[in-house]
Amino acid sequence: MKKDFLTLRDLSVEEINAVLDRASELKSGKDVSARDRVVSTCPLIGKSIGLFFEKASTRTRISFQTGIYQLGAQAVDISPGESQLGRGETIEDTAKVLSRYLHGIVIRTFAHDTIVKFAKNASIPVINGLTDLHHPCQVLADLLTIKEKKGGLKDIRLAYIGDGNNVANSLIEASALTEIDLVLACPKDHAPDAGIYETARSEGAKVKLLIDPEEAVKGADALYTDVWVSMGQEKEHEKKKQTLKGYQINKGLVSLAKADAIVMHCLPAHRGEEITNDVMDSPQSVVFDQAENRLHTQKALLEMLISS
Ligand code: CP
Ligand code: NVA
Repeated sequence: MKKDFLTLRDLSVEEINAVLDRASELKSGKDVSARDRVVSTCPLIGKSIGLFFEKASTRTRISFQTGIYQLGAQAVDISPGESQLGRGETIEDTAKVLSRYLHGIVIRTFAHDTIVKFAKNASIPVINGLTDLHHPCQVLADLLTIKEKKGGLKDIRLAYIGDGNNVANSLIEASALTEIDLVLACPKDHAPDAGIYETARSEGAKVKLLIDPEEAVKGADALYTDVWVSMGQEKEHEKKKQTLKGYQINKGLVSLAKADAIVMHCLPAHRGEEITNDVMDSPQSVVFDQAENRLHTQKALLEMLISS
C-alpha cells in the first residue's frame, strides 16, 4: 500500500527516528561502503517524481530536485499554468492520470484539502511540500538540526515566536511525536490551528501556547521564528506587521534564553521584521544548517516512501 506524507503524523515515532538516522548517514557519506555506493545510493533509479508547486519555493523545490537526482531518479516539473489543471481539469482526474506515469509526487499548494483530495485519488505516494496548514518536510529537517546541535530531542526546550502558521502547526505535531518541550508565543489573533494544538495537548504532548515572547524564551535551548506574512497572505501585510511587531527575535530576546541557545528560522527570512540581521548572522544562528538538512531528510524520506 502506498504511504503519503501529508502531515508529520503520517510517520510513526519509529519512522521519524529512522528518517533522521538515515538522513545523518546520507549526510556523512558513510551510509555504504565505497564498493556498494553506486547501487545503494541510487535506490530510485529509473523512477520519476513529480514536483507540483502552486507557490514560490527556493529550498523545497531545489532540495527535492537535487535529492531526487542523487537517488538516481528524475524530477518532473509540473506547473499548474502549463498543465490542464489551469484549464479546469479536476484534481481527482489529474491525480489518477499522474499516478500512471510517476512513482511519487511532491505538492506545494494553498488549501490543505487540495493535497488530501489529490492523495485520495492517487495511487502513488504524495508528499506535502507545504500547504497553508502544514509544512512537515521543514520540520523533519528542523528535528535533525536540533539533534545535531543539542545531541538529542528529549526535553529540549524549543520556543517558537511569532505567527501561528503552517510551520508552527507542524512543530506542534513534532512535540506530540517526539519528546521536545515546545512553547509558542503568538498574538491572540494569530494562534496556531486550534484543532492541531488541542489534539497534541490531549495526547500529553509537552506543548504550551503563550502570548508573551519574553516568557516563552526563558530557559529555551532553541528559538524559532518564521515570516509574519506567509505566502497567500500578502494583502494582510501591513496589519500583521503591526500586530506582530513585539514578536521579533532580536538580541534582547535571545539574551533571555540559555546562553548556548540556537536560533532557527525555516527561511526565507524577512530580515528586520521577525528576526534582526545581527541575530540571523550570529554564531548562534543555525538557519543555513536547517536549509541544508532539507536535502538529507527528504532523501531519507523519499527512500522510505518510494524505493520499496
Ligand atoms: N523553508 C522553505 O520551505 O523554503 P522555500 O519556500 O524556499 O521552499
Ligand atoms: N510560513 C511560510 C513558510 C515558508 C517556507 C509560508 O507559508 O509562506
